[in-house]
Amino acid sequence: MSGIPHDHYEPKTNAEKYFHRRLPIIGLIYDTIMIPTPKNLNWMWIWGVVLMFCLILQIVTGIVLAMHYTPHVDMAFASVEHIMRNVNGGHMLRYLHQNGAMLFFLAVYMHMFRGMYYGSYKTPREITWIIGMLIYLAMMATAFMGYVLPWGQMSFWGATVITGLFGAIPGIGDVLQAWLLGGPAVDNPALNRFFSLHYLLPFVILGLVILHVWAFHHTGNNNPTGVEVRRGSKEEVEKDTLPFWPYFVIKDLFALAVILALFWALVGFMPNFLGHTDNYIEANPLVTPPEIVPEWYFLPFYAILRAFTSDVWIVIAVNWLSFGIIDATFFGVLAMFGAIFVWALLPWLDTSSVRSGRYRPMFKMFFWVFIVNFWVLTWAGAMPAEGIYTNIALIGTAYWFAYFLVIMPLLGVLEKPLPEPETIEEDFKASLKSKSSGGPKGPSPESIPAE
Ligand code: HEM
Repeated sequence: MSGIPHDHYEPKTNAEKYFHRRLPIIGLIYDTIMIPTPKNLNWMWIWGVVLMFCLILQIVTGIVLAMHYTPHVDMAFASVEHIMRNVNGGHMLRYLHQNGAMLFFLAVYMHMFRGMYYGSYKTPREITWIIGMLIYLAMMATAFMGYVLPWGQMSFWGATVITGLFGAIPGIGDVLQAWLLGGPAVDNPALNRFFSLHYLLPFVILGLVILHVWAFHHTGNNNPTGVEVRRGSKEEVEKDTLPFWPYFVIKDLFALAVILALFWALVGFMPNFLGHTDNYIEANPLVTPPEIVPEWYFLPFYAILRAFTSDVWIVIAVNWLSFGIIDATFFGVLAMFGAIFVWALLPWLDTSSVRSGRYRPMFKMFFWVFIVNFWVLTWAGAMPAEGIYTNIALIGTAYWFAYFLVIMPLLGVLEKPLPEPETIEEDFKASLKSKSSGGPKGPSPESIPAE
């Protein structure tokens, strides 16, 4: 499976040899978990395993919830209440699933930010990044449709607003929206198809995750220096790496345990902390809630969507140039999808020859502004779409696009990077040295056996 030279599984007994000749699955598992992994990976490399945990958690809890849920507009809300009150452990299952989606998104954002900082999307890992973006899109679709299922006020009105965006597409909008919904408005056909797709998509994500893991196993992991593992011989590889099992498995499981302790506290003590109270009111097409707010993980894009009101100069200009075809709503829709699209193009927009942000002084600054901007947009998305809030969202949106389309391409030309270490081994030893001189934390570099 891997493109890096390392030990492979050798069947020993006759039974093992018999099996291996017919189905080399043990070899595949062995090669996967013994993959040489850069020694110097830091704590930001734990999120992949957290994401795998989340995917399994969502599938397992989701399957059990589906056994008790009824996808019909007259019964959906009551069936969720039934799960919460009558099904054994039902409230726990539901809260695990609901908050599990939030942990999933928190982890995916941390994972993506890690990739952005250390340049993990840069060649030869572009395909890993693109598959990641497909996973992210599938996660958004799954979460959006899942949120409709309890058939609360926010489910109904959220679905109405978001599917309404398709209606904003000039010419085909109305037909497309009706086709997606199975009717003129969000109703039973829409609930049915959302349920069906919400059950299906996690398995599509699972398939994409297998491709994702295959892709980065083939190129090898990136690491905080961005310097590649030396590959001349197995001995050289071993100077820069350690096998994934047991070293990184233990590290990842430790991190997962800490995260799950916090997650469990949230699920157990404040399961509705991040949810919206209006979703405990049954959907009513005749009563619009005072504010329609999606879940927090959609808020940056919701802010971008609503930033473009009809008095913004660029909207006025584009509206005029397109003979009125592109109005403010459609402009917002284009900006929202465009924001995700430019993110996906990052491997080709970043022109720097240096991979890791550690050695890019100017990049670092812009990167941290991007992170702050992401959370400012999240906040702006939760505020009413008026006055100062849309102005802030507009500035945030401008920075988002400038970051990808202007700053990333230009930095490669303007920035003078710092010197990188020659090898991963060098970085690893230097960090051990600084740790051991900083206090009695780890073994001294001299006490490490020579390689
Ligand atoms: C269900 C969702 C996902 C799962 C289970 C997953 C899993 C993983 C795992 C296990 C790794 C190995 C390194 C690590 O543990 O961090 C990895 C690496 C990577 N992922 Fe993901 N990932 C997911 C989503 C994404 C998304 C949405 C992106 C970005 C668009 C992405 C981009 C990358 C990149 C660029 C790497 C290479 C980093 C390296 O080589 O160290 N992943 N992923």
